Amino acid sequence: MERRTKVIAIANQKGGVGKTTTVVNLAAALSARHRTVLVVDLDPQAHATLGLGLEKQQGISLYPVLIGEKPVEEVIQPTKWNNLNVIPSEVDLAGAELEFGVREDRLEMVREALRPVRESGAFDYIILDCPPSLGIVMTSSLVACDSVLIPIQAEFLAMDGLALITGSIDRIRASVNPNLELNGIVFTMVNMVAKLTQDVMAEVRSHFGDKVYETVIPRNVRVSEAPSMGTPVVFLDPRSKGAESYRAFAWEFMAKNPTRYEVRPNESKRDNPEPPVAANPATDAPVA
Ligand SMILES: Nc1ncnc2c1ncn2[C@@H]1O[C@H](COP(=O)(O)OP(=O)(O)O)[C@@H](O)[C@H]1O
Ligand SMILES: [Mg+2]
Repeated sequence: MERRTKVIAIANQKGGVGKTTTVVNLAAALSARHRTVLVVDLDPQAHATLGLGLEKQQGISLYPVLIGEKPVEEVIQPTKWNNLNVIPSEVDLAGAELEFGVREDRLEMVREALRPVRESGAFDYIILDCPPSLGIVMTSSLVACDSVLIPIQAEFLAMDGLALITGSIDRIRASVNPNLELNGIVFTMVNMVAKLTQDVMAEVRSHFGDKVYETVIPRNVRVSEAPSMGTPVVFLDPRSKGAESYRAFAWEFMAKNPTRYEVRPNESKRDNPEPPVAANPATDAPVA
């Protein structure tokens, strides 16, 4: 069967909104459902790299690929979980904003760097973890992807932040990447009891309609503890609220972004709120 790789950027110019946490746990939950996933860590802070249990290593990132020193295949690292791979980040990427600002192909550079791996069809999903700015790395990630997933917190001025990033998406669509889509908006670190939360969520839903994912990710202490263990919370504590909600989110995501597998009707999250835990011990639990 033909395999088509979907490239999704997870972006928001604001830091601390749950981008990396969403990248790591969406990727983990998808891999546990037998989807092959490549996470590309484009933030020099390398939190996605560390959250997936890898160390930062000089020369192992997209940077040497961007400067034409290495083929992309050489920087793809396996994690200790099946189907889950990563192109790590390193400090060299921090210089990219300045260094690449003058490159003529700067907008296309991430797309071109990833082209061979995308065209190989080796992955169902390539998920880009963007740095928190509207700089050149994030912009070229928007050029490289099919769609952008925006994690946001339901707080004061959420709509203003959304206007900034959707404005960027519109500009890129009007110029370099006419096929670029808004994948969706997902609420993170939600505290359902707060009145402001309810109001902001209602406002965002009324503007963006079905682009807003039904699943919301609650604030959950296990989610914030997982990065220090180098393990996605969906593997570390599958029964926690955070893990449950990221799994449910992954179901909704797969249904909206099908690849070679169809999500069968009886696989919807309502019929099947939790995937069978031991369906595949090799992918549902750490190997090491
Ligand atoms: N659902 C959650 N519950 C509790 N803490 C969370 C949750 N999501 C993210 N965090 C914590 O919030 C901080 C910022 O999240 P992160 O994913 O790194 O944001 P970003 O990548 O947008 O900067 C991190 O310390 C992370 O562990
Ligand atoms: Mg981050």
